[in-house]
Amino acid sequence: MNQARLSAIGMAVPEKKVVNSFYETLIDTTDEWIQSRTGIKTRYHTEQDEFTSHLCVKAVQDMVERYRVNLDDVDMIIVSTVTPDQPMPSMACQVQHRLNMPRAGAFDAYAACAGFSYGVVLAKGLIAAGTHQKVLVIGADTLSKVTDFSDRTSCVLFGDGAGAVLIEAADTGNIGDCVTAANGENGPDLYISGFAETIDGQPLKMNRTIVQNGKKVFKWAVIKVAEQMRVLAEKNGLTLDQIDWFVPHSANLRIIEAICNETGFPMEKVLESIVDYGNTSSASIPIALNNGILSGKVKRGDKVMLLGFGGGLAYAGTIIVW
Ligand code: ACO
Repeated sequence: MNQARLSAIGMAVPEKKVVNSFYETLIDTTDEWIQSRTGIKTRYHTEQDEFTSHLCVKAVQDMVERYRVNLDDVDMIIVSTVTPDQPMPSMACQVQHRLNMPRAGAFDAYAACAGFSYGVVLAKGLIAAGTHQKVLVIGADTLSKVTDFSDRTSCVLFGDGAGAVLIEAADTGNIGDCVTAANGENGPDLYISGFAETIDGQPLKMNRTIVQNGKKVFKWAVIKVAEQMRVLAEKNGLTLDQIDWFVPHSANLRIIEAICNETGFPMEKVLESIVDYGNTSSASIPIALNNGILSGKVKRGDKVMLLGFGGGLAYAGTIIVW
């Protein structure tokens, strides 16, 4: 029973839907520019008193309602986020408390848009080591709280959301070999400036903002992800045409199209969350996978390649058999 099986999934986004015309009132931009340069039509933003931990809890509740899974014996919670409500306590501890999982250890992992994939790899490792049996992995971010709404080159991109999966020890696993790597030398191309601030112990006011060299990140992502798709397939004894679905981090639809161009992988076999949700960082992969499963596109037995990439710059991926 040391194999790891991803068995259930759920997601959550805030209620507030933000359409592209909202940005036309803030900055010099158009719906046409945003859609043609990024693919984004809508995204969801948290209210001022709504935070990453709230989305984490909702995503897990969605998973529990749909898959009827029992959380009583979860023994580890890993939350991937770069926008925790506050630096401490961790979001994982908040989830452990609010969803009453007394047996679970809990910590946050910090790898930006690659974080969910890192979480899956970590969970698989804990189960393979035999130290843990049931791990909850959550990718959640509220990038709207660290967005500079006067920076037109970045503010249109970001949305808030969370996705959760349960990874359990099983006789037959469904999580394959993985890649994990980083190009730390490119850190200055994508970072969050400044620090968070608490006000009279009240919910945090974020005074941090995302700063990026969009063009450099774009180029790095296309080259790196195209290369790593091949590496990941090969590590799992597969060729790219044996992959049923590709779920890259949804940073920009043009990045995904360029990766497909580069590798010859068909766009019809991509699951993305960029068009309806914007760039939701750690949440983008589980949201896209969740909706692919809900819509019936992803069928039992399908081979699904997950590949996260982002701030660090870091990347990680694996292949699951749903
Ligand atoms: N509306 C209108 N015009 C704009 C906007 C806007 N919102 N933003 C930029 N422009 C202008 C630019 O000023 C430029 O004008 P100029 O030619 O007069 O100088 C022109 O449009 C083209 O700008 P580019 O930067 O070349 O646009 P590009 O096609 O590269 O798209 C973008 C910019 C969307 C940022 C793209 O580079 C991108 O998606 N990069 C990747 C970003 C990314 O993945 N970030 C991850 C962050 S999240 C994380 O990891 C936590």
